[in-house]
Amino acid sequence: MDVLVVGSGGREYAIGLALSKDPAVRNIYFSPGNGATLQLGQNVEAEDFEALADFVQEKGIDLTIVGPEAPLVEGIVDIFRSRGLTIFGPTQKAALLEGSKIYMKNFLKKYDIPTARYIETSIMEEAAEFIDELDPPIVVKADGLCAGKGVIIAQSKEEAKEAAAKMLSGEAFGPAGQRVIIEEYLDGYELSIFAISDGQEYVILPAAQDHKRLLDGDKGPNTGGMGAYAPTPLIDEELYRKIEERIIAPTIEGMAKDGVPFEGVLFAGLMIVDGEPYVLEYNVRFGDPECEVLMPLLKTPASELFYKAATKDLKNLQVEFEDKYAVGVVLASENYPYGKSKPSEIIIDEIVHEDLAKHAHICFAGVSLIEGKLFATGGRVLVCVGIGDTIKEARDYAYFLAGQVHFAGKKFRSDIAYQALEVNES
Ligand code: AMP
Ligand code: GLY
Repeated sequence: MDVLVVGSGGREYAIGLALSKDPAVRNIYFSPGNGATLQLGQNVEAEDFEALADFVQEKGIDLTIVGPEAPLVEGIVDIFRSRGLTIFGPTQKAALLEGSKIYMKNFLKKYDIPTARYIETSIMEEAAEFIDELDPPIVVKADGLCAGKGVIIAQSKEEAKEAAAKMLSGEAFGPAGQRVIIEEYLDGYELSIFAISDGQEYVILPAAQDHKRLLDGDKGPNTGGMGAYAPTPLIDEELYRKIEERIIAPTIEGMAKDGVPFEGVLFAGLMIVDGEPYVLEYNVRFGDPECEVLMPLLKTPASELFYKAATKDLKNLQVEFEDKYAVGVVLASENYPYGKSKPSEIIIDEIVHEDLAKHAHICFAGVSLIEGKLFATGGRVLVCVGIGDTIKEARDYAYFLAGQVHFAGKKFRSDIAYQALEVNES
């Protein structure tokens, strides 16, 4: 089959890479893609979703897979479906689980799915009143999409009130912040759980852990993610069962009951407090870099999984995973996440070590092809992924590969998967 992948990051590269190894896949297209997806297929520019749907129809592309949230929230799935095209991802309405934190919190409340205690409001007095009831730290969230910046963890009531006032006035995030959530702070550790659903059935993928902070030891500012690994030993059978029974199953059932069946990747950002899972957020797409470590663990052909999920046919698929670990280390550019960096050429040493060539690979993200050469042009430039029989082995391969890749200003965390290694050593 021929497949189109919508997006341009490492996540989309990872999906494309899995498809490129799938014997059922003939041609792969990316829109817009990046300077390296050209090695896997063809990049397509399209003015809007209608134009992209025209292209898909003309080429007879069998399946479209959407990577990022923006096109989903803007309704790409609805447009493709209305034209009879097969597309993997949630509809615009179902994408509100990510697009509106208020929709999400109210949904969780309705179906009794565990989450932090909260109020939603557009009135400053109400916000202030609830803030006075809580002990700091206090969490203030803008309702809409704010490119990952809409969450403030305030260390005092004053700071929380100030953040709420800035959001409600529109000063902080414009219309996206004119309704806010104020919620209690949950103190625990974070886990990402991904489920692929066709609206009724679902498959839970191996649990991954992301590293959101820029610097080693989880210090420094938040980023899109500096590295990830899967499966994580931070989850045991019992916790897994709780997550499935209390969170994933009621979410998929609840969305179906509400007439907005969730098709696509449900990404539950969880906080585990004293062994109990709480939903911090939902995303309606794969995490990045989590996708880069999950794709290589998939034993079932990627095209089959995504096609069956997009055609309400998951019940006829037994999804299998490799009995291995994957660790992904993000190589970022000099000024990430503060600002743009000067483009710099990427030089990759010839990989002569056979084991390394076999057990590690690169997922390219913020890269462009300039006069035939690959340049680092984005914040997160690429992800070095190592695969192994243990987390340590996978991590060693990932870092070995990271040492073979060079560009001016390259930076990365040196401690990806440290919590897992601590658990394994103790
Ligand atoms: P969100 O976009 O809602 O996931 O928030 C971004 C990050 O803020 C999360 O990954 C957590 O690290 C943190 N966070 C959000 N809500 C809470 C909460 N209620 N308690 C503690 N940390 C939170
Ligand atoms: N890695 C976190 C995210 O994709 O949102």
